[in-house]
Amino acid sequence: MNSIPPGVWNAIDYERLAVQSMDAGRYAYVAGGCGWDRAVAANRAAFARWAVLPRLLRDMRSGHSRITLGGLDLPHPLLLAPVAHQRLAHADAEIATARAAAATGSCLVASTLSSCTLEEIAAASGPARWFQLYLQPERAHTLDLLARAQAAGYAAIVVTLDASIQLASRAALAAGFVLPADCVAANLRGYPPSAPVALQDGSSRIFQGAMRHAPTWDDLHWLLQASPLPVWVKGVLHPDDARQLQAAGCAGLIVSNHGGRSLDDAPASLTQLPAIRAAVGADYPLLLDGGVRSGQDAFKALALGANAVLVGRLQIYALAVAGALGVAHMLQLLVEELQAAMAQAGCATLADTTPNCLTPSC
Ligand code: FNR
Repeated sequence: MNSIPPGVWNAIDYERLAVQSMDAGRYAYVAGGCGWDRAVAANRAAFARWAVLPRLLRDMRSGHSRITLGGLDLPHPLLLAPVAHQRLAHADAEIATARAAAATGSCLVASTLSSCTLEEIAAASGPARWFQLYLQPERAHTLDLLARAQAAGYAAIVVTLDASIQLASRAALAAGFVLPADCVAANLRGYPPSAPVALQDGSSRIFQGAMRHAPTWDDLHWLLQASPLPVWVKGVLHPDDARQLQAAGCAGLIVSNHGGRSLDDAPASLTQLPAIRAAVGADYPLLLDGGVRSGQDAFKALALGANAVLVGRLQIYALAVAGALGVAHMLQLLVEELQAAMAQAGCATLADTTPNCLTPSC
């Protein structure tokens, strides 16, 4: 039975405590990005460039942080991002994060690469749950995942398109991290792995190797037809892609650089957000993740055009430190930090958050 350790006053305290409670290799794997972690640092730096501008004398007594997102009525705009292999952090893995999401009314996005099956996660979670899809090499397997997600009551599909190739984190390599043999993707049990490709002389390990199953626009159009559930796209950083995805019929987009894990030197998600909001217009659903470590960070993303934000590493740090209780506590702290920022900035509702609520920090 986990309990909340002393010294957790803010959501970000779980990051500090996770360093102490996690095995060094596992911590490096979770905390790291790819390469030199420059995109990880960029995500944090982008939030630090902005300050929240306080306003005086506004009546906040009817204030709230409620939001309707993809047909779900949520008490706050903080979602749990899809994070693979949660058993690396805690024996209860995604069952614990699902319980925490249910306890706090948070929408959970379950990863294709979860340690528990999507059915087990659904049974532990509240009604607000989406399923993150990695398109499978065989379309039959993708169709199977879609049918399972629908049967298990997931309300939407989040297809991640930015991770067909991910170079390793130097920090995780230096710490000697390798995925333990028992760390398997429970959802994909029974799907035979695709046949390895014999590379010819002169063929590239990247283009003809890792990228041979990378999704294309044809695959996305196929998915939009085939999915019984609304499809969101995760991993958008370019306004032109955003426009094209909106026109293709996606339910909404997630501005994300995969927490800096796909391309070192990718721009920060937050930096790209205003241009993407401008590209898709004021009313199109747009979420953001990457670098959110506080309610103030969430507020800044909302002010710059996101409808809601997702939290990746913080949920894993809280899970490692204190299991389901820790994740629920971390979410509660984030919500309070967000509501305090709204109240200080004179925003009674999320609709009041605009770029005018921010000013450069120095
Ligand atoms: C991820 N992320 C991720 N994204 C996804 O679409 N499917 C997945 O299975 C995973 N797995 C995963 C594992 C680990 C260890 C991490 C840290 C991240 C990316 C995740 O959804 C999100 O985009 C980032 O984590 C957001 O950045 P922060 O909040 O971690 O800074």
